[in-house]
Amino acid sequence: MIKAITGTKDIFAPEVKRWHYLENLVKRIFENFNYNEIRTPVFEETALFARGIGESTDIVSKEMYTFVDRGDTSLTLKPEMTAAVVRAALEHSFDKQQNLNKLYYISPMFRQERPQAGRFRQFHQFGAEALGSESPALDAEMIIIAHDIIAELGLKNFKVKINSLGIPASRENYKAKLKEYLEPHFDKLSDDSKKRFNSNILRIFDSKDETDQKVMKDAPLLIEHLDDESLIHFDEVKKYLMSANVNFEIDPKLVRGLDYYTHTTFEIISDSVGSQSALCGGGRYNKLAAEIGDRDIPGVGFAAGIERILLACENENAFQLEEDSIDVYVVRIDKDLNQKAYQSAYQLRKLGLLTEVDYLSRSVKAQMREANKLNSKYVIMIGGDEFQKGNFLLKNMKTSEQEELSINNLEKVYTRIRG
Ligand code: HAM
Repeated sequence: MIKAITGTKDIFAPEVKRWHYLENLVKRIFENFNYNEIRTPVFEETALFARGIGESTDIVSKEMYTFVDRGDTSLTLKPEMTAAVVRAALEHSFDKQQNLNKLYYISPMFRQERPQAGRFRQFHQFGAEALGSESPALDAEMIIIAHDIIAELGLKNFKVKINSLGIPASRENYKAKLKEYLEPHFDKLSDDSKKRFNSNILRIFDSKDETDQKVMKDAPLLIEHLDDESLIHFDEVKKYLMSANVNFEIDPKLVRGLDYYTHTTFEIISDSVGSQSALCGGGRYNKLAAEIGDRDIPGVGFAAGIERILLACENENAFQLEEDSIDVYVVRIDKDLNQKAYQSAYQLRKLGLLTEVDYLSRSVKAQMREANKLNSKYVIMIGGDEFQKGNFLLKNMKTSEQEELSINNLEKVYTRIRG
């Protein structure tokens, strides 16, 4: 037996209905905020992610699905969308057609992480990127949209955490201070943190190692070393959030695992998914476009993990879907009326009714049982004396009322069901 690859999963009914529910809600909310969908290829040139996300990040150094194709090009299955969306914006000159481009996506992503509850190797994100404006209103808009989607799904047990990484100059000054603080503790640090000391010192805040955490407890914080411009931007973001009644906490240690951030970073975390607590994350990235392309385009965005959010919804019983049902089941009474039954079912489907018919040569009794199992609101019965008269029976399964209608007038069934 060939099985699905570890860390991937098949999504099918009834679970897939929960995906549809979430996807419809996500699309509705993004569209209300006037975001347009963007779809990018599943794979890109490796250099896009290596440069965009940063060589020293976990994603690039340990987790990417990278392969060389038959034309000797190094390709990578997208581990995230931001670099891909910015690449598309640069390539198609979105910025020359419109100053501001607000884009959203729902797409599979690929990272070779250790699978566990809420962590997959192929997972799915919905997210958005707004390109072309430095306005803090957009930083806040991302947080508000993410918050609203999560709240509208019915989740209660979550927290919005925000931080500012400031402008690059401010961060570079701070890194020097952090280095100075950490130097006397260097020997105590874990091996990973020792590596990060040189390659990505801010990420030492993310370390799960107990000694690292003790050392970092008294470390100077970036937020206390921000320049005026960064502080003003951050204050504005907070004001916009307050005016939308979004509760948030400031977490000065929220550095995020991707290198492209400037100014605002945020995450929404939940206790309802076990150790994988981040439902979504995002922030501003004003230098990313210049990193992968030939010009600056300021941007801000976020992405949320669909598997994680659905897991949290299940654990919190956040939303309940109505039981599945169909509109009509076409019961074929006489065996030689197969063609008529299929033709009638087809006509009902064309009229817009959710219709099912028998494909397994079932007896009339078994067809009625199937209609019940499918929660069919109505049944039509084709055959018997009624058929000889050019009619069929329409039965309301709830009231058991029956009505004889002309076989040439299936529209009547539509009127009975939809009014
Ligand atoms: P990220 O924090 O790497 O950010 O991922 C965003 C979300 O994707 C996470 O909070 C989590 O819910 C989900 N996620 C990540 N890895 C996995 C996994 N292995 N299995 C299941 N879910 C996962 C980004 O991807 C950035 N592109 C976000 C962004 C957009 N920043 C600006 N614009």
